[in-house]
Amino acid sequence: MKEKTGYGTAIGKIILMGEHAVVYGEPAIAIPFSAARIKTNIIEGKGSVILDCDLYKGSLFNAPKRLFGLVYIIRKITEDFGEELKDFNINIESNIPLERGMGSSAAVSVATIRALYEYFGKNLAKSNLIKLTNISEKINHGNPSGIDSAVIIGEASIYYLKKAPPMALGINLDSYLIVADTGIPGQTKEAVKSVKRLILSNPQRGKSLIKGLGILAKETKEILKVKDSVALGRLMTEAHQILDELEVSNDTLNHLVNVARESGALGAKLTGGGLGGCIIALASTKEEAQFISDRLLANGANNTWISYMGVDKI
Ligand code: PMV
Repeated sequence: MKEKTGYGTAIGKIILMGEHAVVYGEPAIAIPFSAARIKTNIIEGKGSVILDCDLYKGSLFNAPKRLFGLVYIIRKITEDFGEELKDFNINIESNIPLERGMGSSAAVSVATIRALYEYFGKNLAKSNLIKLTNISEKINHGNPSGIDSAVIIGEASIYYLKKAPPMALGINLDSYLIVADTGIPGQTKEAVKSVKRLILSNPQRGKSLIKGLGILAKETKEILKVKDSVALGRLMTEAHQILDELEVSNDTLNHLVNVARESGALGAKLTGGGLGGCIIALASTKEEAQFISDRLLANGANNTWISYMGVDKI
């Protein structure tokens, strides 16, 4: 008899504008990031489920806390199908380091949900995929806006407002986005909590910073329509300054943002939850992007990626 298998894949994402503010109902813009790819393979095994991924290898039941969201949905899907949580193994491969603000936690969930449905021979409705991914993200992050799952599942750029359907946003800019990894894991949950603390301790200042980020996201949407890369760069740098004031940046992120700007970037900012993870920078030409990328690597970046913004997907 043919062995039962399940396979699922998902790409990462980059938040161009509006991280953190999106949690408080402001808009944000996110782009799929196809350089980041997660693959989940499920094969038949014997006995307890073995989970094998970058963060952990061993029995599903002993997985560390950071994988609780994933473990919960694996358990839930298996139970919902009336199957037993045993006799299969889950292998998750990622070509990017996890926890770098590229949406890896949502992408791991999406790839694994797709693989489990295939393994159990079930059809997966998009609404169900979104629901399950958000359950897992809620366990991982506490209060996710849903932007990661929306862009990762849709695989197209979106203008996103919490509790509203994502709006497709065709991006076609003649410029290049450089993504640079600090090498330090991002701390989305911690960063989201710290923004909340800041807002509670100084509501007037906190709310005005959040509103400022929302205004930048709205302006970005208009600027994308007129394809003005110089203006986009300026807004990115402004957003970084606000994110720094919100205390979700750190010395390493600020250093890389400065290196990018001193090397001729049109603008640069952290992306995602912050307190680690990645920065993004914008360049007018491929040569300039390469130069900025080289400077970032020479000045502490762990890795870089360059993507053309001339098509919807990066
Ligand atoms: O760190 P990431 O890639 O998961 O991005 C988090 C984005 C936040 O706005 C900080 C949180 C959220 O749920 O939207």
